[in-house]
Amino acid sequence: MDVVTIQGTIQTRDVDTIIVNLFADSEPGGATQAVDEALDGAIRDLLDGGDFTGETDQVAVLYSRGALPARRVILVGLGPRDDFDADRVRRAAAVAIQKARQLKAQRVATIPHGAGAGGLSLEASAQATVEGSLLGLYDYRGQKSDDAPDPLPETLELTVLDPDDVQVAQQAINAAAAITAGVTLTRDLVNLPPNICTPTYLAEVAAQVAEEVGLRIEVLERKQMEALQMGALLAVAQGSDTPPRFIILEHRAEQADELDSIVLIGKGVTFDTGGYSLKSQEGMSYMKIDKAGAAAVIGTMRAIGALDVPLHIVGLVPASDNMINGQAYRPQEVFTASNGVTIEIVSTDAEGRMLLADALVYAARYQPAAVVDIATLTGACVIALGNGVAAGLFSTDDALCDALLAASAATAEKLWPLPLYPEYEQSIESETADIKNSSSDRMTGVGVSATFLKHFVDYPAWAHIDMAGLANTIRNRPIPYNPGKGATGFGVRLLTELIRQWQSR
Ligand code: BES
Ligand code: ZN
Ligand code: ZN
Repeated sequence: MDVVTIQGTIQTRDVDTIIVNLFADSEPGGATQAVDEALDGAIRDLLDGGDFTGETDQVAVLYSRGALPARRVILVGLGPRDDFDADRVRRAAAVAIQKARQLKAQRVATIPHGAGAGGLSLEASAQATVEGSLLGLYDYRGQKSDDAPDPLPETLELTVLDPDDVQVAQQAINAAAAITAGVTLTRDLVNLPPNICTPTYLAEVAAQVAEEVGLRIEVLERKQMEALQMGALLAVAQGSDTPPRFIILEHRAEQADELDSIVLIGKGVTFDTGGYSLKSQEGMSYMKIDKAGAAAVIGTMRAIGALDVPLHIVGLVPASDNMINGQAYRPQEVFTASNGVTIEIVSTDAEGRMLLADALVYAARYQPAAVVDIATLTGACVIALGNGVAAGLFSTDDALCDALLAASAATAEKLWPLPLYPEYEQSIESETADIKNSSSDRMTGVGVSATFLKHFVDYPAWAHIDMAGLANTIRNRPIPYNPGKGATGFGVRLLTELIRQWQSR
């Protein structure tokens, strides 16, 4: 679907479908009022009859019967005026465009929802409107051979009244297009089955992305990882016949000396069986999502390249399967990571932190202003914060933590700060090595995993995001702009916003 800006009034647009909105329990105002007047009070009738209240995610369709150039009007609820924000706009836009698609609309026009209301700027409103529209149309067909998707509308016109607003609206469209293309790529990668989306495949996709948006790419193979003494990553990889990859994507590499460097790291376990600490059948059944951190980093790098943010951004993706063969690593074995720290294995299912360890060490070479890793790391985090609700956030730097929380508020990709208490260190004391990869009792979990990672961090500002509960849509908590099932693309909007806000500080 193409998205374009049009200057004018929505009620005069010569399209088949126009989209207007209503706050909960409010009178129609602005464009909605103009459309209502043209329809001789048809919207008011809906409200007076109690058929429509404007609550969040509510949608109604009216037919203009010649009173407007457009054949139909989609009316969408924005929810209560009091807690209005950009996320309501994303939701409303998604609900409306899904209705338009269902009705086989071809040419659709919308207003930027709620611009000026609740402190929302035109730019924020326009971006959220386009993001919600594009994200809401995603569907994953997988390898189905006989199931054609419903066609998409051809164009979406974003109409603004004031000629001076056209440029701002166009910029917002460009930003939303770059960001949603990143989210879409991330969703696809997470949804792909593990026999297709191997570490090698991830590296091929990263190379395509680099070509498309102009990034530098380097892919390390096993030999090069051996030369770098990445003993933690290689310990996991040795159990699989599918070779590992270490992917390095770089935006503005040539300006690395002048610009702030931010390093993003994503856990790329293309399938997590647990290894010899084998997962249960249920626990393993959805473990293709264990590459969601990696997918989020590749998607974010795509967005950053397209937006051409004036910062030096590095994306690191350590990628491997976690499998069992005759060479697979076992509990009680000891490995040395690339910073010389020795690790005793307690659980081969705590493999993500092994991959991240060597990537965190690798990040130091950029003398980064900030390093953020994102990973489906622990079931404990899902239990602590709720499936599909919030990701856990750990940080060694208050300013980075605040920056991430600000990005989280702007994108509604929720983060909740968790502590790095020194007491967690006791849980990973080993009798035979510097540290263990997990606690031996079941009473600790998410804090211990972050404490383990900290042993590989040698720079002041590091943050770790545990997104184990956010990779997939949860059945009873649907968000309209996320697919009803499968990957959410969590992390791309969040990390892109972090970097855009960093640029303007
Ligand atoms: N990939 C899993 C974590 C996970 C769980 C992701 C649920 C998504 C949903 C991770 O590698 C793992 O197995 N973690 C163990 C750690 C334990 C062995 C210390 C866990 O959470 O049980
Ligand atoms: Zn695991
Ligand atoms: Zn895992």
